[in-house]
Amino acid sequence: MSKLAIIGGTGLNQMDDLQITATRTLETPYGRPSADYVFARLDDKEIIFLARHGNPHTIPPHKINYRANIWGLKKCGVTEVIAIAAVGGITPAMSPAHIAIPDQIIDYSYGREHTFFAENLAHVTHIDFTHPYSLPLRSELILAAQKAQLSISPSGTYGCTQGPRLESSAEISRMERDGCDVVGMTGMPEAALAKEQGLHYASIAVVANWAAGKSAGEISMAEIERHVKKGMETVFDLLKTYIRSSNQVAQR
Ligand code: HPA
Repeated sequence: MSKLAIIGGTGLNQMDDLQITATRTLETPYGRPSADYVFARLDDKEIIFLARHGNPHTIPPHKINYRANIWGLKKCGVTEVIAIAAVGGITPAMSPAHIAIPDQIIDYSYGREHTFFAENLAHVTHIDFTHPYSLPLRSELILAAQKAQLSISPSGTYGCTQGPRLESSAEISRMERDGCDVVGMTGMPEAALAKEQGLHYASIAVVANWAAGKSAGEISMAEIERHVKKGMETVFDLLKTYIRSSNQVAQR
């Protein structure tokens, strides 16, 4: 039996058919997580939500306590994590409101607390990160997308920038040459920390805008919000189909 957590932006708990059953405030050895853990039920399946940017949405990407967030999920008994992430689209298929399930990551972020293996070590630990996202969880999400007849990209490389500013067009051109399909600010160190904790971790990337220099003019917050809202409808369909067909722990 698996136990699913969804890390996401705001609005996730507005998914219809979802019933909130409890909230839990946690302190961790790494400090406070971004928000309370919200326990919810979809039919008979239990899910845990965490608002990555806090509730209300006030924590910028480089200030998120990724270690506390992941440690808290592990403490709640979570075994798999679906991370919802707004991204900029770099390659042609990644148009606004499109959905991708990335299979690779390039990390351009810096100065973030990025490992659990830093202090009080009996020995130095290097985790394998060849496949940064869980292969079985990605496969199940791709199957759910097919089942729900959603048109998504089943792979793609996610480039993680530091933020909170958006990128320059030269930075995006460089990322494209590196092989990035989408750009976001929160994928790392979240994915690596989840892997260090032995969690199955996959991401659903929602394209919010064309990345810098990929369309005429500047990127506006209004545009980002509009496309994320539209993309989230697809994400909800995908999540509901996945949860209903999965073997999540049933509510006791
Ligand atoms: N760049 C980085 N992160 C983002 C973007 C972007 O263009 N859009 C949404 N998140």
